[in-house]
Amino acid sequence: MEDVIKIRGGRKLNGEVHISSAKNAAVALIPAAVLANHVVTFLDIPNISDIDSLVELLEFLNVNVIRRQNTLVIDPGEIQNVTMNHEAVTRLRASYYFLGALLGRFKKVKMKMPGGCDLGPRPINLHLKGFEALGAVVDYDNGFYTIEAEHLHGNNIYLDFASVGATINIMMAAALADGRTTIENAAKEPEIIDVATLLNKMGAEIRGAGTDIITIDGVKELSGCVHEIIPDRIEAGTYIIIGAACGEHVKVNNVIPQHLDALLSKLQDMGVKMNVGSDYVEIFASDNLHAVDIKTLPYPGLATDLQQPLTTLLTKAVGVSKVTETIYPERFKHCHELNKMGADIEVYNGQSIINGPTPLHGDVLTATDLRCGAALIIAGLIGEGETVIRDAYHIYRGYDSIKEKLRALGADIE
Ligand code: EPU
Repeated sequence: MEDVIKIRGGRKLNGEVHISSAKNAAVALIPAAVLANHVVTFLDIPNISDIDSLVELLEFLNVNVIRRQNTLVIDPGEIQNVTMNHEAVTRLRASYYFLGALLGRFKKVKMKMPGGCDLGPRPINLHLKGFEALGAVVDYDNGFYTIEAEHLHGNNIYLDFASVGATINIMMAAALADGRTTIENAAKEPEIIDVATLLNKMGAEIRGAGTDIITIDGVKELSGCVHEIIPDRIEAGTYIIIGAACGEHVKVNNVIPQHLDALLSKLQDMGVKMNVGSDYVEIFASDNLHAVDIKTLPYPGLATDLQQPLTTLLTKAVGVSKVTETIYPERFKHCHELNKMGADIEVYNGQSIINGPTPLHGDVLTATDLRCGAALIIAGLIGEGETVIRDAYHIYRGYDSIKEKLRALGADIE
């Protein structure tokens, strides 16, 4: 796969863009399918490389997978619980969902340390604490986790932090445990509701997903089902920000606007002209943007995944904006790249200060992680001249057909 994206900036974008299904739902739903004893079908899988990695991992587990266009049919009938030492485990964070799924199904899993975007420390202690509370013993040796239980039993689990990954992993392991599990201070992201919906269609008994207390009554087995995945709120937010940065009239379709309340409200404060429909958001040419302060928080607060794209937009706003990152205090590598393009951003102690407006000019940049890549694409679209983004593979991990979608809006990108 080509690894460099080139953008000639300065064009005004116009038209419509269709948002794909949610990456961060899909990457949990696919491992969850191995809990079933029959075929699970997903109708609208996004075309991103994280899905390719998960399909490789399913096949490594001897799961039969058929992928045709956006449909993914997963038959775990012949699954073998082998040690997950496949190289794809380290390509993405979400391979850790096989810990909960395989532990739930086989009461044992052995897997090497998952990878993913470098956003600073990303411990999984809360996942492990949850598995232990369900009766599992966790061992870490030579880069491998072995997690094993005689049998899994329900328990009350309080999460010190409302972790998305820990909430989903515990739900998966508890779905086939004996008795009732309660997760307190559970994460409330829409992707968690989507995973609970899938598991319930498979026969699980999960209530409260989307609130901070989730109750899981273990069942004996889970069957197959057909599932449609929710739209990707981070992809949608990214295109809405693109519309605000360089759109004349951009319509972003297949959106659940409530999932984006925190972003839309900030954009309104900045003076972005928008029309929010039932399942779309229209953005109109917006000049004279005002600086704002933003703080990333667990859902329904402003998503950390949109902090990086939003920072690029803030370089266009008049005044001083402050960004406080409470989820990943080191998620600021994009700022150094933006400064090369002429931005005036200082970073310290989990915060960035953006002095705007600063015109941006093209440069040779590096996408250090997925959402940094998105931030740089937006910078390339608004910047004067040519921007070259290296290590574009990070971007293809999470943005379906991004070059095609942007070209359809009139961008000069290859
Ligand atoms: N945390 C712990 N211990 C744990 C788990 C998390 O201390 O056991 C901390 C993390 O270090 C972090 C915070 O809790 O400070 C939040 O982590 P969380 O577990 O909620 O995040 P995650 O499940 O690892 C998912 C998304 C991320 C997104 C975060 C926050 C997936 C595969 N990844 O990660 O998405 O930033 O939630 O919303 O769903 C992205 O798409 O670019 C991305 C990084």
